[in-house]
Amino acid sequence: MRRETIAVHSGFDCDPATRAVAVPIYQTAAYAFESADHGAALFNLEVEGYRYSRIANPTTTILETRVTELEGGAASVAVASGQAALHYALVNLADRGGNIVSTPQLYGTSHTLLSHVLPRQGIEGRFAESDSPEAIERLIDENTRAVFCESVGNPAGNICDIAGIAEAAHRHGVPLIVDNTVATPILLRPFEHGADIVVHSLTKFMGGHGTTMGGVVVDGGRFDWAAQRARFPMFSEPDASYHGLVYTERFGPAAYAARIRSVYQRTTGAVLAPLNAFLLLQGIETVALRVERHVENARRVAEFLKADPRIEWVSYAGFAESPYFELAQKYLRGTPPSLLTFGVAGGFETAKVFYDRLGLIKRLVNIGDVKSLACHPASTTHRQMTNDERAKAGVTPEMIRLCVGIEHVDDIIGDLDQALAGALAGKRP
Ligand SMILES: Cc1ncc(COP(=O)(O)O)c(C=O)c1O
Repeated sequence: MRRETIAVHSGFDCDPATRAVAVPIYQTAAYAFESADHGAALFNLEVEGYRYSRIANPTTTILETRVTELEGGAASVAVASGQAALHYALVNLADRGGNIVSTPQLYGTSHTLLSHVLPRQGIEGRFAESDSPEAIERLIDENTRAVFCESVGNPAGNICDIAGIAEAAHRHGVPLIVDNTVATPILLRPFEHGADIVVHSLTKFMGGHGTTMGGVVVDGGRFDWAAQRARFPMFSEPDASYHGLVYTERFGPAAYAARIRSVYQRTTGAVLAPLNAFLLLQGIETVALRVERHVENARRVAEFLKADPRIEWVSYAGFAESPYFELAQKYLRGTPPSLLTFGVAGGFETAKVFYDRLGLIKRLVNIGDVKSLACHPASTTHRQMTNDERAKAGVTPEMIRLCVGIEHVDDIIGDLDQALAGALAGKRP
């Protein structure tokens, strides 16, 4: 089935009892057992079914099925946010200690999770010099539990060579986790290039409307946990916290996702509300259409900015001079996502006035909304950092991050044009 159709139908077509075609919202905390034996069989994971919505919920199952199919994976666990998804994805592999090797270009909070929060729990985050497979492979050792990258980095816009990074990880018996939030499975499916696990912030393009938090971990189902038993005993040895269950034996290719649900979602509870699952499903139904418009608008906006002398530079992987142009051809069919950065001529102050003068384009830190969104990192998100720290994070004083929305492109360009004219004339709003 084509991705457009999966986004609309998978997981729920029509309720056989009522013939309703809308996804039902099962806003219930717990589920009645037919009998004590039925309850016992559910708890022992011997039969399919629902017990309590902290573990699984039928509306959320439809969302999980849809994302699994969109990504071409084996199973998914949907959770409360993208950060919860990443946290579960990592601790599920490294809860006995070890290190995670990552590209340096990451969403800021994911960087903090790896550099500050996980180390307090005995898990070391290691950042490679660059996103090249060689730089990543140099850091992998016998204690590495996962390699992590964003298929398209936020805010850097770098495009990872997923096949090369996956090969490097697999040479050492280590799985590759890819955050596919910015690209979405409409532009890129990391499993087709060798990734083992995919995570998403569904809050962004997948939901698409900036209304609903959510995240998901997708298990590709191909990593051989039993073959890497020494590094990952938790999947092939009896789990004392779950009546001696052996995940690889009970769940086969979905062992990794099943352990997230049975161990982490069950005991730490970053649950996605069923109503939010419903809202995210509504968003996913149009993701293919929206992404088509996002990327086309982004291309037009990037061309406008590049041709404008009031702009110093534009970072957009659709331009032949971009260091990521070839990778955009290979992984994104030549259509980079709608996240781009550019530098306003005149430096920090002019960029700030430009930012304040934006009208249609919203000043906020989210991405992946139907509305165009902008951020001036030097005066907002990265304000607390020293100049040196900002430079290392790739944040320059004149830099604006723009996530191009699906409005009419003439209106987006018109807003940028008026804000530039005012800023260069020194006119505060
Ligand atoms: C690439 C990426 N991953 C993960 C996250 C975190 O997602 P959430 O805000 O849903 O927790 C974000 C948020 O901006 C992001 O941009």
